[in-house]
Amino acid sequence: MPSSYVVKAEALTKIYGGKTGPLYKALNGIDLQVEQGEFVGIMGPSGSGKTTLLNLLATIDKPTSGRLDIQGTDPASLPEKQLALFRRRELGFIFQDFNLLDTLSIRENILLPLVLENMPLRDMEQRLADSAALLGIGDLLTKRTYELSGGQKQRTAIARAMIHRPSLLLADELTGSLDSKAAKDVMESLERLNAERGSTILMVTHDPFAASYCRRILFIRDGRLFSEIRRGANRQAFFQQILDALSVLGGNFNDISPVRS
Ligand SMILES: Nc1ncnc2c1ncn2[C@@H]1O[C@H](COP(=O)(O)OP(=O)(O)OP(=O)(O)O)[C@@H](O)[C@H]1O
Ligand SMILES: [Mg+2]
Repeated sequence: MPSSYVVKAEALTKIYGGKTGPLYKALNGIDLQVEQGEFVGIMGPSGSGKTTLLNLLATIDKPTSGRLDIQGTDPASLPEKQLALFRRRELGFIFQDFNLLDTLSIRENILLPLVLENMPLRDMEQRLADSAALLGIGDLLTKRTYELSGGQKQRTAIARAMIHRPSLLLADELTGSLDSKAAKDVMESLERLNAERGSTILMVTHDPFAASYCRRILFIRDGRLFSEIRRGANRQAFFQQILDALSVLGGNFNDISPVRS
């Protein structure tokens, strides 16, 4: 059977510093493969290299050594202009602080990636209705960002990240600014996106509750893969498995909240 991976990383290494300052190896030989339709979480102590890894996968930074393949392309091989286009078409980003544009309506925020692609209006409207329905924000489209709750803003950001049907959705601490009710809403939306659209999702999180919605978690420590767990049918059981894995991993996890399973 042909492999249907979206991302394949081999021996990814990232060394910061040099020239005048000291060298620091933030990532040390990471191998990783994400299959089409997977929902993967990355966890690890503060400073373990999560954001560094995400930045490499996001193609906004380049590895010092190792190989990266996203949908058959090595981003390092693309000239800057083509890389920007590749990033815009193949990837969708969800941030902790939503990154919505306050001067635009919710509708305009979500449509932005399609406007950049010059998509015909009728197709844009179709995609908008479709995405908004999936994420439960159909009634909010004419509102402005300040009229939305945190959870609604993040679901808007998810709609914007997926409306151009990217190969891979990347999220960094997407529940980090949300209370537990909103975090639950957002994670259920992401789960639906994964289950119903087959969207491939990779997210970095500190939060075991958010992580329990993933199907597989990779734990990293000191820039290396440390362990990996897969979810069975039961999310609550997976939550407990994540807590156990984190206690083995050690390090600094301030925001563990075992009550919220
Ligand atoms: N631009 C940089 N220059 C030098 N060192 C860096 C740079 N970015 C990150 N580092 C170092 O690399 C290591 C990994 O950082 P990274 O931001 O990837 O960690 P993280 O796992 O995302 O941590 P956190 O959970 O706190 O967000 C840290 O020791 C950090 O200080
Ligand atoms: Mg980080």
